[in-house]
Amino acid sequence: MGDQGAVGHEKSVVARAAAGLVEPGMTVGLGTGSTVAHLLSALVRRGTPATYVATSPHTEEQARALRLRVLPFGTIERFDLAIDGADQVAPDGWLVKGGGAAHTREKVVAATADRFVVIVDSTKPVAVLAPPVPIEILSFGGASTLRRLAAVGPVRLRSGAVPSPDGGLICDYLGAVGDPERLAAALQSVPGVVAHGLFPPRMVADVLVGRGDEVEWRRTAP
Ligand code: 5RP
Repeated sequence: MGDQGAVGHEKSVVARAAAGLVEPGMTVGLGTGSTVAHLLSALVRRGTPATYVATSPHTEEQARALRLRVLPFGTIERFDLAIDGADQVAPDGWLVKGGGAAHTREKVVAATADRFVVIVDSTKPVAVLAPPVPIEILSFGGASTLRRLAAVGPVRLRSGAVPSPDGGLICDYLGAVGDPERLAAALQSVPGVVAHGLFPPRMVADVLVGRGDEVEWRRTAP
């Protein structure tokens, strides 16, 4: 996952900065991926008493192993904060997520949070979003959903992909992204699509980009 050397260092730098946003008593959503793994260690080092909800079984296991207090999402209606990584960050704040196949849960958690903070290393900002864009589809009628998605553009089942945490199939849209708002609407309009990995800027409060030892702090949503 590109977690060695300079990139790993940048992940740990942004993870530390994001951990500093957690205040005592907060309820915090935790994303999925290698940057979030750094976040978990930073949260343990900081030791702020808070409650966490994980977006994947993997994050939940890691967090519990580190003795963070993790609750099921269940009846919780809002989080103070959610922190997650991303695969691509566009200059206008659009994200592509889902490299780890957890983007559906990540989107629900991001939408539940008063403040959604994205943490990335310096390889993630891009000038223009590019494929692949992950998509989760229901396994029920999967072949027929894939056929309908082909009308939007080329889509392929992710090879060797395990199902999403909720049993969905993971595929990737491989066509040009163009206007992300348009593509997001087109993908979401296909029956059988659970969620795609395009996250709009209005969902994102801050993007923290690690650059060497520094954090570039981008504010997105008001
Ligand atoms: C998982 C995600 C991750 O946030 C994204 O893939 C980035 O992962 P990493 O921090 O390992 O680079 O969207 O579904």
